[in-house]
Order: sequence, then C-alpha cells, then structure tokens
Amino acid sequence: MSDTKKFKGVNTICTHVGQVKDEQFGSSVSPIFPGTSYEYIDKEIDRYPRYSSTPNQEFLSKKISALEQTEHAIILGSGMAAISTSLLSFLGSGDHIVVQNDIYGGTRNLIEKQFTRYKIEYSFTKGIGIEEFEKEIKSNTKAIFIETPSNPLLKIVDIKKIAELSKSHGLISFIDNTFATPLIQRPHNLGIDVVMHSATKYFGGHSDICAGAVAASTEHINKIWSLSKNMGGSLSDYTTWLLERSMKTLSVRFFTQQKNAMKLSQVLQENKNIDRVYYPGLTGHENHDIAKKQMDGFGAVISFELNKKFNPKLFLKSLKMISPTMSFAGVESTMLSPSKTSHYLLRKEDRINQGIVDNLIRFSVGIEDIEDINYDIEQAFNNCK
Ligand SMILES: Cc1ncc(COP(=O)(O)O)c(C=O)c1O
Repeated sequence: MSDTKKFKGVNTICTHVGQVKDEQFGSSVSPIFPGTSYEYIDKEIDRYPRYSSTPNQEFLSKKISALEQTEHAIILGSGMAAISTSLLSFLGSGDHIVVQNDIYGGTRNLIEKQFTRYKIEYSFTKGIGIEEFEKEIKSNTKAIFIETPSNPLLKIVDIKKIAELSKSHGLISFIDNTFATPLIQRPHNLGIDVVMHSATKYFGGHSDICAGAVAASTEHINKIWSLSKNMGGSLSDYTTWLLERSMKTLSVRFFTQQKNAMKLSQVLQENKNIDRVYYPGLTGHENHDIAKKQMDGFGAVISFELNKKFNPKLFLKSLKMISPTMSFAGVESTMLSPSKTSHYLLRKEDRINQGIVDNLIRFSVGIEDIEDINYDIEQAFNNCK
C-alpha cells in the first residue's frame, strides 16, 4: 500500500491510486483479472474472487482506503453486503447495538428483521443528539451505528462526539458514509472504527453498478474479511474493474453535483410551491453548524416537501429531464418519494415519527446545467396543477 502514501489530493487519489499495472503491454488502464484459479505455492496471498483478493479487488480497495485514510479496505457485492457483513463480524447472540433512528430503510429492515433471528438486541435512538445515543447504552451494548448525512432527511450527527462516546464505553463504532463520500467527510480521522459505503451510489456514479465497500484498520478489516469469505458476498472482477474506472471521475462528478446542489437548495427555498427544504448547507438547517465543522462540503442530495396542493406522484410524472427513479448519486438528476421507495418497508408510524411524510421528495442532483434542472422543476410544477 506504500504507493497510496505518496498522493495527498483526492482528485489525484481518484485518478491514480489503486490501478493494476499492465506489466505486459503498458496500457494506461488496469487489465481485468477474471481468473478464479491462481498459483498458491510460496505466495503471500491466497487469490480467489470470493476472498476479495484478486488483483482488481485488492487494488481497488487501496483507492478506497487512501480516500478514507484508513489502513485497509475491502470491496463487496453491495452496500448491504458491506453493512451486514461488517455488523455481523462484531455482533453475536446476546450483544446489543445502538442505532440512529433515521437511517436507510434497508439497513433498518436488516436490523429489525434479521437481528432478532440471531438474538442480537438493538435500540433505535429517539433523536440524533449524543445524550440520545448514550441513553440507549446497556451493559451488553457492543456497538453504535450512525448514518450522516442521513437518508432521506439529511440529518447530521456529530461524528467526533459519537466516536468519543463509543470509546468511553469500549464500543465499536460504525458509520454509513454513502451520502457524504470520503471527498468531504473522513470519519475514521474523527475516531470512527468502521466506515461503510454503498458503492452503488457516488463511487459508481452512473447508475449501472451495484457494489459495497468497507474501510477500517487492518485488524478490523481482517475480521470482516474473515466473515465475508464465509458469507460469499464478493464483487465480480468485471464489476470491480468498472467501479475502478468510475471512481477515476468520482471527484469531478461529485464536486459538480455538490455545486449544483448548493445553488439549487437556495432556489428551492424561495419556491412558493415548496414548503420545506432539507439541505445541510443551508444556514437554516438544524444541524448546519455540525456539518460545517465536520464536513468539507454538504453533499449533493436535497430533500423537500411539496406544498400539499400538489400530488407527489403527478409532480414526479411531470418531470421531463429529471428521472423519477430509485436509488441516487448518478450523473443524471433523479427524484423519488422515500415513503414509496427507500423507506416503504418501515412501519407507517416509524416513517411519520422520522418526518418522512408522503409529500417528501428526495432529489439527487446531477451534473447537468443548473438552468436546465431548474427549468424542468418549474415546468413540472406548471404541468401538474
Ligand atoms: C445510505 C445507504 N446505505 C446503504 C444502502 C444499500 O446499498 P446497496 O443498494 O448498494 O446494497 C443504500 C441504498 O440505497 C443507501 O442509501
């Protein structure tokens, strides 16, 4: 991993770190190694796709650890593979985990549906203040899980305080860093143990890759790696190669999207058809000060509540350029109703408690020209009355 130490800037890391050198022909891009059978005699590494140890898998993990500023990383088959494998590597029967209440619906579903089967106890916090996390810690608590900015209301948890709380109770801390990306938020430097990603989102960035990643110390990654070999949720080398190719432009894409989002959040705030805008970059956002302290930007997702006179489905169907599609973080702008998609599986009362109302729209801002994005939103309002 020594090559990663030479590079400092995120743009350089995205472009250069973690490339497999083409020794044979000198190509400027990584060759793909799709082999499932590698020499093992006198070799330091057992290379096998399910072990996440083929050349493509190993080298891409270096790009991710360089960005997250951790000792090590591992690539897996989806964000949920990264989250489930990481959590289950450290939790067993009789253990307890404290979980932030408003997180991605799929993660909440994993915990509520599966953890009970494994006799792992959990408590969801009532809010996102440190005291609300501390209140839930019990004698058998082993871990804390946070997601910040959170999906879909972009709440910001104080990462450093969570890390300190975890350490003072001897817990292991987990963060889902998907919304921020390591370009603007490096939680390991703030004391968090395990950083997880849905690489399906900004890392992939073109709505055509499903992948996950975990970054942590070598000791922690070895533990996760050991379980992932048993669970088998690895990523194929073809997709790993495509992800590496995509990550070369991660910073260019993300910073353009973020710039658009900052401007659009202000425009949307002035729009009389919108009742409320959620974006951590707005000074009126309830956690703006924490965001400013721990992030180098505010991300590229905005959520907003349509005025009740608009039907959310009709509004989404009236968009002409912005696509009303699931997932987020592609180069193209997309919008969705969280209550009908990412958070559909939640109980209605949990959704309402979290503030995920039916007229809430999550807007993943793309790289298009801001005037065109704006025009599309305006024409959709005019056409769905
Ligand atoms: C914040 C967050 N974490 C994790 C996931 C799960 O990722 P994947 O769909 O790659 O399994 C998602 C999916 O939308 C997400 O939004």
